Amino acid sequence: PRYKVGYFVGSLSSTSINRLLAKALTRLAPQEMQLVEIPIKDLPLYSQDYDADFPPPARALKQAIADVDAILFVTPEYNRSIPGGLKNAIDWASRPWGQNSFARKPSGVIGASPGSIGTAVAQQSLRGVLCFCNSPLMNQVEAYIHFKPGLITPEGEVSDEATAEFLRNYMTEFQAFVERVLTVLPRQP
Ligand code: FNR
Repeated sequence: PRYKVGYFVGSLSSTSINRLLAKALTRLAPQEMQLVEIPIKDLPLYSQDYDADFPPPARALKQAIADVDAILFVTPEYNRSIPGGLKNAIDWASRPWGQNSFARKPSGVIGASPGSIGTAVAQQSLRGVLCFCNSPLMNQVEAYIHFKPGLITPEGEVSDEATAEFLRNYMTEFQAFVERVLTVLPRQP
């Protein structure tokens, strides 16, 4: 694969529909793109007290981001914003000051919800955070997935062909975006 993408699942739920969505995206991504999960569940709550010496899960997080060309956020909406666990992971990765892991790292956002707004409000909030973190963010296409039971099988297969095609196109566009960003902002050695 030419591009390595690290994805965050914003949910810690064992039955997460966003994890299913991430599975589906992994299957539908162009062949040149490899997806790997960047886990967030073992991170303690961030405090500046840790800045002098990050604990192992936080070091692993920063290394995982350094190891990929781009980041994909696959997240639920919690109370019209992003889940605290995801915000905590972003806060960790953005620190210590001067070592923000998201700077110049291209990113995309997508999410699924049983509600028809499909995480739109959470994504808007996440876009603001990523903007501050200086991550070049794909503006279009947007993807607000209205999840109905059975839409994605436990193996990550999308049962509805129109949705599968939409998600395939999302990943194709994301690859094109990452390619464009890396042309002007090559990865630091
Ligand atoms: C939700 N849910 C929800 N859905 C939504 O569309 N907008 C929202 O603001 C919220 N708020 C919210 C808060 C909290 C604390 C929970 C637990 C849930 C419902 C949510 O979309 C649903 O539980 C999804 O299944 C969560 O995604 P995962 O964990 O299945 O990936």
